[in-house]
Amino acid sequence: MGGAGKCRILIFGGTGYIGKHMVKASILLGHPTYVYSRPCTPHTSPSKLDLLHDFQSMGVTLVHGELEEKEKLVGLIGQVDVVISALPFPQVIDQLKIIDAIKVAGNIKRFLPSDFGCEEDRVNPLPPFQQFLEKKRKIRRAIEEAGIPYTFVSANCFASYFVNYLLHPHQTHLDSIHVYGSGQANAVLNYEEDIGIYTIKVANDPRTHNRIVTYRPPKNIVSQLELISLWEKKTGRSFKRIHIPDEEIIKLSETLPNPQNVQISILHSLFVKGDLMNFEVGDDDDIIEASKLYPDFKYTSIGQLLDIFLVDPPKPVVAAF
Ligand SMILES: NC(=O)c1ccc[n+]([C@@H]2O[C@H](COP(=O)([O-])OP(=O)(O)OC[C@H]3O[C@@H](n4cnc5c(N)ncnc54)[C@H](OP(=O)(O)O)[C@@H]3O)[C@@H](O)[C@H]2O)c1
Repeated sequence: MGGAGKCRILIFGGTGYIGKHMVKASILLGHPTYVYSRPCTPHTSPSKLDLLHDFQSMGVTLVHGELEEKEKLVGLIGQVDVVISALPFPQVIDQLKIIDAIKVAGNIKRFLPSDFGCEEDRVNPLPPFQQFLEKKRKIRRAIEEAGIPYTFVSANCFASYFVNYLLHPHQTHLDSIHVYGSGQANAVLNYEEDIGIYTIKVANDPRTHNRIVTYRPPKNIVSQLELISLWEKKTGRSFKRIHIPDEEIIKLSETLPNPQNVQISILHSLFVKGDLMNFEVGDDDDIIEASKLYPDFKYTSIGQLLDIFLVDPPKPVVAAF
């Protein structure tokens, strides 16, 4: 895989919420990095144009195209070693086009599909989230069936995204916080920049060939109640906890329209059931934990992440999970 571990990495969805951190990490770790991005139009946002410009200054090779352009895809894939997809949820099934192109090109040493959430083969959530995950599972099965070398990544919660969602740090006059269920179930919140670094490391690691990697660093395992207490300590503020009972959340998952029914089912899985922590990670299993693979990498703990929010809070975004 390339000389001295410097494989060539192609990223789909590289201009996205999580994809941009993967692109930056790939460059930081010295990989020749390619981004496949849809063509710019007069409607392309200034922030995306700025990002594309930054990528070019960093030495990223940008290739503009659509997923439907099979010959272009096959040609590009033929020039790289590793393919990572960080496409958004609505484009999950479109990854079959990438799989087809990888099959034709026949040279790819590793493909990471756009998982980057919970360990989808090890959870059994409420029906709206189950249907959502079924599409991601379909892609995993297609990769296995095609015999494409893979790593499946369970990145757990994108930390800034969920800190914004759970704690509303931008609302300085807030005096109460919603707690889903008892608030005692453990979740895992990983800083987006670290997810970028871990992803590039696992994409280029012989130990993760045809295995699942979960990002579960010990200092990032936290319950909602612990997160709120920690935020109170950091800010000197205090918040009333307003619990939304389990039954009410289940009812909402049955009555809310799409996509809110999916969102509430995700919250139920992550924060009420504690699905991110509902399985053991053993050394000889097909699933490995990232911080054990890279003990020297100084990941951002929850405490450090909240310090970042105190100084320069990452802006809330609407992510489509
Ligand atoms: N664990 C978590 O907490 C969490 C949270 C959110 C999302 N996720 C997961 O993370 C993954 C990436 O999600 P994201 O929110 O980062 O994605 P995103 O920012 O919504 O989109 C990523 C990129 O995909 C490309 N794209 C968008 N629409 C497209 C279309 N119609 N056709 C082709 N390309 C299109 C765009 O790049 P170009 O314009 O450059 O083509 C966009 O910048 C998904 O699997 C999602 O489920 C996980």
